[in-house]
Amino acid sequence: MKLIVLGSAAGGGFPQWNSNAEGCRRARTGDPVALSRTQTSLAVSADGRRWFVLNAAPDLRAQIQATPALWPTAGLRSSPIAGVALTGGDVDALAGLLDLRERHRFNLYATRSVLGVLASNRIFEVLAPDCVTRLALPLDQTIALADPERDAPALFVRAFAVPGKVPLYLEGPNFDPEKYTEDDTTVGLELWQDNGRKDGGAHAFFIPGCAAMTERLAARLAGAPLVLFDGTLWTDDEMIRLGLGAKTGRRMGHMSVMGSDANGTGGTIAAFRALGIARKIFVHINNSNPMLLADSSERRAALAAGWDVGHDGMELEL
Ligand code: MLT
Ligand code: MN
Repeated sequence: MKLIVLGSAAGGGFPQWNSNAEGCRRARTGDPVALSRTQTSLAVSADGRRWFVLNAAPDLRAQIQATPALWPTAGLRSSPIAGVALTGGDVDALAGLLDLRERHRFNLYATRSVLGVLASNRIFEVLAPDCVTRLALPLDQTIALADPERDAPALFVRAFAVPGKVPLYLEGPNFDPEKYTEDDTTVGLELWQDNGRKDGGAHAFFIPGCAAMTERLAARLAGAPLVLFDGTLWTDDEMIRLGLGAKTGRRMGHMSVMGSDANGTGGTIAAFRALGIARKIFVHINNSNPMLLADSSERRAALAAGWDVGHDGMELEL
């Protein structure tokens, strides 16, 4: 299985258009210490020829342009993209669908609730139904990712609920920030090749948004060869402390790399420490997260804890 990190930043990207914070200023001037990042999206393939895109970030058009594996190779109109699968209904997960509107055949996988979001927004009808087939991603069931151009499926996926919240634009006046969802609102995706059986074959997890580590999630991830995981904030209150916003990571539905205190209690590094995962990579990294800066003590601490900080164009193979 081949994977390409198309984008590694959280919603807004790095630099974010309206942020004048130091990290964004450095990224804007091309400082290699503050490498620019587009919003999180992952391409996955069994053979390096046909690809599925996990989350259609608002930057998808530029991501395709930056990724030769996703360029057309056959005839006057074609694309190696066989399908798209979504982990939620946030803008940064689905706005890029609008870039895929030029009558290309592909399969679009999302959970029932995210399909509901798409169905209730008529703008997504630019994905003509005779080209784009919308398919339900069931929870906790392995399904083949079907390629409209090929009979035999080469990749399999299983979606599972993770703690999360409804998309920002659906919060509404009665939204309770203390209550996480743990249903098909926010999911992680487990991917693998072979026969659809999880019998030791190479498998990878893509979890760009997760509000908390639960026992169930820890058990699911234990021993995995590869996990790409929510790296939104370094500390839960960093947006407030830096004067960039009023929300904690918890309020946004994201656990933080270090959690809420200097000891890292409740943070992602601590939560993963005993899980025995071979390769751990942060994605969906917010522009305020100091680990984005290659010369920061936070970057060193993440690497020392056995994590990689994902970057756009990062290629992985299992
Ligand atoms: C998030 O991950 O918290 C969302 O993408 C926020 C947003 O919609 O910008
Ligand atoms: Mn997001």
